[in-house]
Amino acid sequence: MRQVVVGLQFGDEGKGKITDFLTGKDTIIVRYNGGTNAGHTVSVDGKEFKFHLMPAGSLVSQEVFLGNGMVIDPFAFLQEYEKIREENPELKVHISEGANVVTEIHKFIDRAEEESRENRIGTTSHGIGPTYEEKYSRNGIRIEDLGDKEKLVKKIKLLCRTKKSLLEKSNYSDPAEIDRVAASLYSVWEKIKDYVERTEITLWGYVDSDRNMLFEGANGALLDIDFGTYPFVTSSNTISGAIHNGSGVSMRKIHRVVGVAKAYTTRVGEGPFPTELSGKDGEKLRESGSEYGTTTGRPRRVGWLDLPILKYTTRLNDVDILAITKIDVLGSMKEIKVCKDYGKDRGVMEVLQGKVKANPQYEIFDGWGNLAEDEKSMIIERGKGHMPEEMEKYISFIEKIIEKPVKIISLGKNRKTTLVRE
Ligand code: IMP
Repeated sequence: MRQVVVGLQFGDEGKGKITDFLTGKDTIIVRYNGGTNAGHTVSVDGKEFKFHLMPAGSLVSQEVFLGNGMVIDPFAFLQEYEKIREENPELKVHISEGANVVTEIHKFIDRAEEESRENRIGTTSHGIGPTYEEKYSRNGIRIEDLGDKEKLVKKIKLLCRTKKSLLEKSNYSDPAEIDRVAASLYSVWEKIKDYVERTEITLWGYVDSDRNMLFEGANGALLDIDFGTYPFVTSSNTISGAIHNGSGVSMRKIHRVVGVAKAYTTRVGEGPFPTELSGKDGEKLRESGSEYGTTTGRPRRVGWLDLPILKYTTRLNDVDILAITKIDVLGSMKEIKVCKDYGKDRGVMEVLQGKVKANPQYEIFDGWGNLAEDEKSMIIERGKGHMPEEMEKYISFIEKIIEKPVKIISLGKNRKTTLVRE
């Protein structure tokens, strides 16, 4: 089976856990967008692993790909890869020679651009936007350039020239600094060159031999540069269709799109959030769900599940099945609300882009309480039809409005606490 796992909200939906769960030893994992702005957490036997560049399936899979659609900080890559190899020594990695390189200068520019904005986006400061910007201006530093010191110096000089006004007061206006940055990037080449290739060719071979493949989306659908809540978005296409331009594999070769949504909503950074919860309820949900950014540690904004969002992003990603995460966290709320629409004549994107104010219409459910570990095990063992009644009602309501089946439900952090509904 070839499938893609995508987030249906603002990122942080729990894609890492679902990817890890769906990954077998023989599954090839492919990342096709973003960089270290992504943060995926996987918990196995009480140990927690955080992924930023490497796919979350890397603990189980034997072979992973970092596709051409990604922006890669090579130092961050090496650090993460080394760490994962301690757990999974067999893991083989392929890096696209066409992926673009994030340098310390891009990160500096990211911070400087953010500071100069009247309305801040709240970027992760990981250099994502500036690196994509250079890629599309055709001045980008590609992974393959790391092996050519002269080219590196030229491209870094060009970057510093085009961004002169932002860099004027920084060390990067000093030619010696440019040489230092180029030399340090070049020093990485020896360590990664064996992994670098035209990944699309290898991937086509795997498609032809019908291998199990999982394409792992980073960030979330509403952070998509075209379809998200622009300008409060990331700088890549995050939706399922982006696997084609981000890896070279056609969407026509994909059998199943798994859309992942949290049982409530969270958002990091700025932008409209119609179901946002403030006050005590918001604090409670944030604390119960440990809603702090994996990448930046920032507290996440939290709110009720927003079905207009899910309806839009389910269609946008052509989702086949839904995976709902953190349902155990939501259960701790006494009363649970779900937004079913934004009121008359209020379209989802008009609201999310702040053109119209939402008047959220809620359906209200009773909480199902905190679930003890043995209760979770029992629910998972028995499967569908044995969830607490209120939880079952909640899930059925989502299915009714979204018109897609909820096939996977995550009841806790651990890999084992995952319910598959047949
Ligand atoms: P950037 O991707 O660092 O440029 O950040 C742009 C916006 O996307 C900011 O609001 C970030 O907080 C948000 N963002 C980017 N990646 C993620 C993610 O993986 N999860 C949640 N938010 C993200």
